[in-house]
Amino acid sequence: MAEGRGGAVVAMAVICLLVVALQCEAASFVVGDKAGWTMNIAGWEKGKTFKAGDTLVFNYQKGQHNVVVKKDPDDISMCSLHPDDKEYKSGKDTVTLNKGPNYIICSFRHHCPQMKLYINASWPI
Ligand SMILES: *[C@@H]1O[C@H](CO)[C@@H](O)[C@H](O)[C@H]1NC(C)=O
Repeated sequence: MAEGRGGAVVAMAVICLLVVALQCEAASFVVGDKAGWTMNIAGWEKGKTFKAGDTLVFNYQKGQHNVVVKKDPDDISMCSLHPDDKEYKSGKDTVTLNKGPNYIICSFRHHCPQMKLYINASWPI
């Protein structure tokens, strides 16, 4: 009986370790760091390594910007909001990166030329 419980405890510990290990793989980035999601965002993503499953946190004044995850990340000249895109506008939005190209913009008029992120995320491992 005691031995059976011991086995269960070990199994639980192993499962917990696996969960922790997997969670460690996903990183969270605050876009623009302290300044947040602003017109000065250009270049923020340079030199950083992003993996699928990592999260981006967009902090901004609600109503001043939005966060649009483009359905088609390949057309990086697009600055408008398409019905298939995912739009966030709470002022504190979290976006999880997909594997491969991720193209995220502010679709407000005249904002996107500066406010865009193009991130090519690799596999988590
Ligand atoms: C994204 O990165 C992968 C792996 O480095 C590469 O094979 C692929 O061509 C890249 N995709 C784009 C659109 O840059």
